[in-house]
Amino acid sequence: MNNIILCGFMGCGKSSVGRKLAAKTEREFVDMDRYIEEKAGKTVSEIFAEQGEEAFREMEREACRELSDREDLIIAAGGGTLTFRENVETLRKGGRIVFIDVSYENLCKRLSRDTRRPLLQVENRNEKIKELLEQRLPLYKSAAGVFVNGNFSSARVADNIIGILY
Ligand code: S3P
Repeated sequence: MNNIILCGFMGCGKSSVGRKLAAKTEREFVDMDRYIEEKAGKTVSEIFAEQGEEAFREMEREACRELSDREDLIIAAGGGTLTFRENVETLRKGGRIVFIDVSYENLCKRLSRDTRRPLLQVENRNEKIKELLEQRLPLYKSAAGVFVNGNFSSARVADNIIGILY
């Protein structure tokens, strides 16, 4: 019941904050995208390209079920994970969900050179970020019990999470 699950938009720092948080709290860190890639033996981009997004979402649901059965983890979810009610319910059973809130402007900056996120390999990336963010913000907010401002360094965000949860 005591996992810490980090949620938020692509580029909000779930993985870098998660690694810092794990080091500071001496817990194991699991990056859900890497977990899925290891199980599938291919990258997220390859899964999207070869099997489609729905196949990826099924792998993601399975990862949520498996990880929520474990304890003491710091889990960086994917940017889409907590937009699905089923995953929210599954992960909530195993721990607390923390939303890392980063402004649209900072997300655009952080994601401007990304090549590994299939949803962002489109002509007008900032428009896509805006559209997805509008759809997803209310879902992240309803999924999470804890909110942190993510517009700072990952070390500072990790310290703020520790300040709230410990
Ligand atoms: C996705 C976010 C990605 C990854 C996949 C889909 C999304 O994770 O799961 O590309 O739907 O927002 P990150 O948030 O770690 O980039």
